[in-house]
Amino acid sequence: MNGRTSARVGMVGAGQLARMTQRAAIDLGVALTVLAERDDDPAVAAGAAVEHGAADDPDALARLADRVDVVTFDHELVDGPALARLAARGVAVRPSPSALAHAQDKLLAREAFARLGLPGPAHAVATDEAGVAALAAAHGWPLVAKARRGGYDGRGVVVVADADELAAVLARGGEWIVEQRVPLAVELAVVLARRPGGAMAVHPVVETVQRDGICHELVMPARVPAATAARAVAVATELATGIDAVGVCAVELFVTPTGDVLVNEIALRPHNSGHATIEGAVTSQFHNHLRAVLDWPLGDPSMRALVAATVNVLGADDGDVAARVPTALAVPGAHVHLYGKTSRPGRKLGHVTVLGDDADAALTAARRAARALTRPA
Ligand SMILES: Nc1ncnc2c1ncn2[C@@H]1O[C@H](COP(=O)(O)OP(=O)(O)OP(=O)(O)O)[C@@H](O)[C@H]1O
Ligand SMILES: [Mg+2]
Repeated sequence: MNGRTSARVGMVGAGQLARMTQRAAIDLGVALTVLAERDDDPAVAAGAAVEHGAADDPDALARLADRVDVVTFDHELVDGPALARLAARGVAVRPSPSALAHAQDKLLAREAFARLGLPGPAHAVATDEAGVAALAAAHGWPLVAKARRGGYDGRGVVVVADADELAAVLARGGEWIVEQRVPLAVELAVVLARRPGGAMAVHPVVETVQRDGICHELVMPARVPAATAARAVAVATELATGIDAVGVCAVELFVTPTGDVLVNEIALRPHNSGHATIEGAVTSQFHNHLRAVLDWPLGDPSMRALVAATVNVLGADDGDVAARVPTALAVPGAHVHLYGKTSRPGRKLGHVTVLGDDADAALTAARRAARALTRPA
């Protein structure tokens, strides 16, 4: 019987992260309700209970809150003031609206990271002409313009070659910040879960490969010197503690050719960079997210294999990825995950993880399986 003793978690959003959280909810006997706009959203199709509505609709958020013990998120494009009102009337919102704000507002985030003494790219508010001029003088063009709110998958990130290109971006409207373009040796992510009292479970550092602002591949653990990995973990845990994050968070980091570790951004939810934890870790990020927001004991984040490599399956024009699953499964060791989404160019439709004892071999196999899903044989 699905008794009244089930813990009830509400998740705002019903995409692939909510879908994979639903798998964990089944394991843990948790009743997951997602706030979804469509019944074919990935988490709804996977059997999560649904409250219909939009993440920016205060009434829909209140209806979701009324059905559950704790409210959490699969994305951060949520009405902040409405969330704050829910929290003020005693709803358990985890992460808290004020912690979540660090994933919603890139300017607020940069300022908070600096206050915490954490290194980040030099930045300025785009309308601050003197600030932008100082940035250009110190770091040179090109600079990187970023939408202050609402960007994801690189939308809202524009490399600008000069002041004219920056002006053209600002003419699109909205608020922007401008950053130095950091020379990147590698990008890393630290995925961790944090309970309300501060206990944390930290996965091994992940190496991420982005193309055109979209994450394509992961290798866990990252192939970086131990000191770099330790620095990344220190920065991420200080950040999570400093903003009182609860649930899973993913801290995205830049590593420069001289080995400096800079914070790019933080997501306060399960994250693409944690997908290798499903097979690669003793406890997946999705299980630990539920455990953390329910204030339950966290699971072991350490690895089950020496290496896990994950390759995202991005939409192609001709793609019926589901029809090609058998071909992908012919690759030994390929763990295929499809999100139940229709194909559009560049859209994240799924991912493939391969475990092994050699990063290159695992990556090669995961790439082969991912390619088999997106290209005709
Ligand atoms: N200041 C910078 N210098 C160099 N590269 C950058 C800089 N900012 C962003 N990038 C590149 O663009 C990618 C996307 O940037 P960012 O993570 O800030 O955007 P986003 O759209 O919020 O991404 P996400 O999909 O993670 O939500 C980064 O992973 C990095 O590859
Ligand atoms: Mg990012």
